[in-house]
Amino acid sequence: MVRFASSTRDVPDTSTVPRHVAIIMDGNGRWAKKRLLPRVAGHHRGVETVRATVKTCLERGIEYLTLFAFSSENWRRPEEEVSLLMQLFVRALKEEVKKLDRNGVRLRVIGDLSRFDSDLQALIAASEERTAGNDRLVLTIAANYGGRWDILQAVNRMLSSDQEARAQWSESDLAPHLAMSYAPEPDLFIRTGGEQRISNFLLWQLAYSELYFTEVLWPEFDARAFEAALTSYQQRERRFGRTSEQVLGTSQPAVVPTGPRIDA
Ligand code: IPE
Ligand code: IPE
Ligand code: MG
Repeated sequence: MVRFASSTRDVPDTSTVPRHVAIIMDGNGRWAKKRLLPRVAGHHRGVETVRATVKTCLERGIEYLTLFAFSSENWRRPEEEVSLLMQLFVRALKEEVKKLDRNGVRLRVIGDLSRFDSDLQALIAASEERTAGNDRLVLTIAANYGGRWDILQAVNRMLSSDQEARAQWSESDLAPHLAMSYAPEPDLFIRTGGEQRISNFLLWQLAYSELYFTEVLWPEFDARAFEAALTSYQQRERRFGRTSEQVLGTSQPAVVPTGPRIDA
């Protein structure tokens, strides 16, 4: 099993282009409302933004793209909207998988899939299987996903996989059981639509991600808007707990003060 460095245990290697970008695609409803359209029209436009975002990732050599499509809390929406979102998900999977496959994209879906109907579960499994040999970009769709659900299911899997009673568990015991253990932690987190919150997305994995919030609504988040997020990322100094001097390699060796001795 590939084990990626945990940003709270080791200092990961970073580069100017993020390896992993995770996005909360928000603002579809408001985009539609502004145009006096039904909310679902915004979700339809949102699928086009997904296409464009995947294209930019392929062009820029981003290796992992994770998109929050449906949260465990989104079941609280009106039944009609939930049902339309499910239909859209099915349609998008059916229409896009061939193209994703052609472009070397591996599709993965994370979340509690047991709540989806069996046809959708089968479609997800078939889409994942079809693209399983690709490695140019890993596109993860978080569906019926919640960060707390993820941590809890990881704890349960950790406890049942190791029968040995232990007094202490470490981060590295739990991390491999998280839903996205196949990917490094996100370097860059983007939320469109103006809200500045995590909304139960990747709670564990965002520990040291760079956060970027934009007012741009998801249907309008075009290549230029994505580029602005990538530029902002390039200007950040990722310290992972260290000082700026350490990061820049300009830290002086610790000097022991040589002033007069003060005896008590
Ligand atoms: C995000 O857009 C899409 C989903 C949550 C499925 P919203 O539907 O939340 O759009 P706003 O926030 O109402 O504008
Ligand atoms: C978060 O968006 C979930 C997705 C984008 C799928 P919401 O629009 O549901 O978030 P909150 O509830 O307003 O924070
Ligand atoms: Mg929203």
